[in-house]
Amino acid sequence: MPILTPRSALYLGAGSSRLIRPASVAAASAPTPAFSRHVPAQPRALGPLTPRRYLSGPYGYTQAKSLVFSKFGEPSDVLHVHRHSISPTLPDGAVLLRALAVPVNPSDVNTIQGTYGVKPQFSPLLGTPEPAVIPGNEGCFEVVAVGPGVKTLRRGDWAIPATTGFGTFRTHAVAEHADRSLFRIGGDRGTAGLTPAQVATVSVNPCSAYRMLRDYVDLIALSVSSFSRDPTTPGGAWFLQNGANSGVGRAAIQLGALWGLRNINIVRERPTAEETAALKDELTALGATVVLTEAEFLDRAFSARLREEFTRGGRDPVLLGLNCVGGKSAAAVVKALSPKGTMVTYGGMSRQSFPFPTGPQIFKRLRFEGFWLSEWSKENPAEKRKTIDEIVELMRDGKFKAAPVEEVQWDWDTEEKTLQAAVQGTLEGFRSGKGLFVFKDT
Ligand SMILES: NC(=O)c1ccc[n+]([C@@H]2O[C@H](COP(=O)([O-])OP(=O)(O)OC[C@H]3O[C@@H](n4cnc5c(N)ncnc54)[C@H](OP(=O)(O)O)[C@@H]3O)[C@@H](O)[C@H]2O)c1
Repeated sequence: MPILTPRSALYLGAGSSRLIRPASVAAASAPTPAFSRHVPAQPRALGPLTPRRYLSGPYGYTQAKSLVFSKFGEPSDVLHVHRHSISPTLPDGAVLLRALAVPVNPSDVNTIQGTYGVKPQFSPLLGTPEPAVIPGNEGCFEVVAVGPGVKTLRRGDWAIPATTGFGTFRTHAVAEHADRSLFRIGGDRGTAGLTPAQVATVSVNPCSAYRMLRDYVDLIALSVSSFSRDPTTPGGAWFLQNGANSGVGRAAIQLGALWGLRNINIVRERPTAEETAALKDELTALGATVVLTEAEFLDRAFSARLREEFTRGGRDPVLLGLNCVGGKSAAAVVKALSPKGTMVTYGGMSRQSFPFPTGPQIFKRLRFEGFWLSEWSKENPAEKRKTIDEIVELMRDGKFKAAPVEEVQWDWDTEEKTLQAAVQGTLEGFRSGKGLFVFKDT
């Protein structure tokens, strides 16, 4: 076994302190025959489970690729493909993962741009010319090899990172402390009835929607108490949200419908009236009670409509507002809230701030909160696991639909610019779906 120098050893980011080698080092230091011409016998634990090309270096080294960045900037400028190899010898407690599907979320782009709430540390251990980071917070991975001492995972399981910051934009990863850095998907029912795309997108958006609907205002208890006080109450308690066609928004609509909550959903107008109507229909089919365009929501007539059409003259209060847009839209959410309502801000897609109006704060006694899944997950690991398990079972039973995606196939030969463009496009508006890397021949 060649000796690893600090320069040649790779450290695979959060969840992984595994030393690996850049492909060039692995190849250069290997005895003949060269890995491209010879596929050595694989250690049993490393045998691939799904049909794929054997891309193996000498002595069963797994050839892997990651997207990395070494300075903050636009994804198309700063993201690069980094090729490396992973040793077949797994440390105690570690597993080798192969990526199946990985979404690109707005926060991933903000992280690359350097505008996110937390800045990643560039690591010298990835074997890149400059210290670098692998972006990406969630994804569905297949366990292809299990190191000694791992208790909760077996070959063939699907797993997702337990916390954000794992670095998921890569074909393979070694996850150290796998029993706590990963969640096995599916419990006793395994992966039957699930797709990698569903599993890859469960831990950020649906989990955020779930927690925001449950942890700030007890809308379910409110529904029950309103109904027992007044059996003419036509439905559950109300919440209101902008960005309602986002991944989080769609999840909130579906969970709200499952829990008997009513919701007012704000979306931006599409380029044509037909497209706007189609989007409204799509959200209504998911369980939305009311879908309005931003123009309808910002119109002066909205306050009267809210009272007369939706809330029985204000008798059914709107006590929770979810805001991922900011600007005028957020200000209108504040205005629509009933006394003692709570506004939870979790995103700022318009990149515009909004005023915290003094009058409503005092006279309506409103509460303003911020939600950040990363911190919530660190503080509530067991609750996160339960939340994910619950949503996974809803997906499996056909009660919860994953948000639409725009698939980008990632093969061994996929060009760097294709991967860069998939990430770069994430913050553009009016998309048909979230970018999702789907890994095929890696
Ligand atoms: N705080 C947390 O823990 C947390 C967790 C999850 C998500 N988030 C945040 O939630 C937001 C939505 O994330 P997601 O993954 O659900 O989004 P997504 O599925 O990628 O959808 C993006 C959403 O943003 C809207 N949008 C894009 N550009 C906009 C603009 N200039 N003005 C207004 N709306 C715009 C889109 O509306 P159109 O279709 O009209 O373009 C769409 O509704 C992001 O800000 C994300 O960072 C935060």
